[in-house]
Amino acid sequence: MTKFLVTGSTGQVGRPATEALRATGAEVVGLTRRGGPGAVAADLVSGQGLTGALAGVDTVVHLAAGNNKRDLPMMRNLTTAAAEAGIKHLVMVSIVGCDRVPLGFYRQRVELEEIALASGVPLTIQRATQFHSLVEQVFTAQRFLPVVFGPDWPYQPIAMQEVGARMAELATGAPQGRADDIGGPVRQTVRELHAIWKRVTGSKRRGVIFKPPGKMSAAFAAGYHLAPGSSYGQQMFEQYLQAR
Ligand SMILES: NC(=O)c1ccc[n+]([C@@H]2O[C@H](COP(=O)([O-])OP(=O)(O)OC[C@H]3O[C@@H](n4cnc5c(N)ncnc54)[C@H](OP(=O)(O)O)[C@@H]3O)[C@@H](O)[C@H]2O)c1
Repeated sequence: MTKFLVTGSTGQVGRPATEALRATGAEVVGLTRRGGPGAVAADLVSGQGLTGALAGVDTVVHLAAGNNKRDLPMMRNLTTAAAEAGIKHLVMVSIVGCDRVPLGFYRQRVELEEIALASGVPLTIQRATQFHSLVEQVFTAQRFLPVVFGPDWPYQPIAMQEVGARMAELATGAPQGRADDIGGPVRQTVRELHAIWKRVTGSKRRGVIFKPPGKMSAAFAAGYHLAPGSSYGQQMFEQYLQAR
């Protein structure tokens, strides 16, 4: 029986991916810094505990992230140890358009993909569009301001639950390199998303939608971070907010 290790098993994507894999009856172990029931403790930045965590594992689903530059040593440590341990399949998540939108954080995502590809471990990379929680944060992060500022870019937000399910689906199949991009069910403007957020949360704060200058903004405005052909995501942003 295939043994799976899910890094970041308590995260937004890691948790549903772990649940979906467990639902197949497979042997699944999580990995976080603290460990806990069903999860081993290992720190991917220092590499501490990693070799032990990989013992007897066939497939690694890598969903741990700090969402900062520490993700790079995390990926180096993981892929080096995975190559040494003879891991048969590494599945990782990345961001749609990370190679087309000139943003530092996105360049890091490309670097993460390159590190994984260079490791020689059989790989599947799944790029996804922005999560519903990220769009929500655009609005909630400004809670001390009387208005809500939003960039005039389209989004195609997707449920973290669905991304997790997709990661589990990929992990149970063969390595495929770059999988087709996935995105949420519809493309919506920030104006539309803000109106939904206001309606569902009851917020009275007016939206101020503006066009930031520069190449990065132009790339987002052109929709390079969207997956127009994808029909994967089903849950709408409104349903996500209502379910909370
Ligand atoms: N947000 C978006 O719109 C979006 C879109 C596409 C792709 N993605 C990608 O999706 C991935 C997953 O994001 P997420 O939001 O699910 O992450 P998250 O909720 O922040 O979860 C991060 C997980 O990583 C673990 N972790 C953090 N540092 C660790 C370390 N040093 N060693 C071991 N485990 C560590 C955390 O557990 P402990 O803290 O307990 O260790 C936690 O389980 C990221 O790579 C992100 O770039 C995000």
